[in-house]
Amino acid sequence: MGIGRARRDRDTPWLHGAEHAVTRISRRQFVSLAPTVMGGTSLLSACAPSADTKGSAAIAAGIGRPDPGPGADNETLSWELVRNATLAPSSHNTQCWRFQLEPHAITLLPDLARRCPAVDPDDHHLFVSLGCATENLAHAALAHGLRAEATFDAAHGAIRVALAPTRAESSDLFRALPTRQCTRGDYDARPLSTDDLGLLERAGTSGGVHMLLYTERPTIERVLDFVVQANTAQMADPAFISELKTWIRFNGAEAAHTRDGLYTAASGSPNIPTWFGELAFSLFFTAKGENDRYAHQIRSSAGVAVFIGQAADKAHWIEVGRCYERFALQATALGIRNALVNQPIEVTAVRPQFATAFGLSGQRPDLVVRFGRGPRLPSSLRRPVQAVVV
Ligand SMILES: Cc1cc2nc3c(=O)[nH]c(=O)nc-3n(C[C@H](O)[C@H](O)[C@H](O)COP(=O)(O)O)c2cc1C
Repeated sequence: MGIGRARRDRDTPWLHGAEHAVTRISRRQFVSLAPTVMGGTSLLSACAPSADTKGSAAIAAGIGRPDPGPGADNETLSWELVRNATLAPSSHNTQCWRFQLEPHAITLLPDLARRCPAVDPDDHHLFVSLGCATENLAHAALAHGLRAEATFDAAHGAIRVALAPTRAESSDLFRALPTRQCTRGDYDARPLSTDDLGLLERAGTSGGVHMLLYTERPTIERVLDFVVQANTAQMADPAFISELKTWIRFNGAEAAHTRDGLYTAASGSPNIPTWFGELAFSLFFTAKGENDRYAHQIRSSAGVAVFIGQAADKAHWIEVGRCYERFALQATALGIRNALVNQPIEVTAVRPQFATAFGLSGQRPDLVVRFGRGPRLPSSLRRPVQAVVV
């Protein structure tokens, strides 16, 4: 817990005064357990300090504010492009990126202080997250009359995005940037149209990345079996649990303080005081409850997508991130939700079995995503641009 706390203090220079609430349970544990074990949403809501939600809601509203438009001066425009890039998903919402600005380029750098060595020992998720941010940047640049050309410098792990003038184009995918989210709730289990599936497949595929789309129930059940197997392993792993704990934000006050991490309201759970969450989990948490929740969520989905890069290296992980983000933005534009269920590719002992079961022997599946239609949940937060520009 000491490490997590030190990191938060160091990385939140725009904040002062408020005392940290320290968490002692995992996001996955919390999300699954809260409504069922602790008497349902109403009881938990009654415990929520009302001031909690105001800070985080105001920040979330600011994150989606309108762009300044192509008439903005160069620096303002660069900051606006960075703001759009930071709306991308990142593993545990670590926002593991920094941005270096030049007159005609923006370079994305990994923020190694935000690594997650337990769940992501080889920085796979970190570079996928950078790929997601790169994709956002490209859509925002085009909307502002700039063509983005990304090149990867493997020696520094840096993605340099050169920006050249072109005709401005505000695409559906660009307009989806502020409302895209990883929606961890239940969906309506109804199938998607062939047209919608075709659009998702096209968005999520590139020269170096292919995607498998599963909509048949028996295949979705096989994916679920692997999620349960791998999730059970993760929850028995003290290093995984301990790392995850440092990224949990139990209530709006905590979320507003760090503006990163896994805000429980964004997973459909109410705001609760930290001490209450700690107590409930130490008393009632079971692996079965967690796996049952995943079973319900996956069975409520219209399908599952698996993303596979042609090679297992950083350049391809970035490309996987770009493809997944295009898929997520296309889904958002169509009113379709998605959420990552990556447990089978995170647990190294399970990953090869998962690959073999889905005809991918010898390859590394990169992401597992469920999708379908369902209600939006509250947005997770982002740090301000000044915290990520170097
Ligand atoms: C590489 C990567 C891996 C992720 N893995 C998971 C996962 O296994 N389970 C999950 O619930 N969310 C996962 N997420 C989603 C993040 O937690 C989410 O993007 C982050 O909390 C920010 O929320 P937002 O995407 O709704 O803005 C992952 C995201 C990325 C980019």
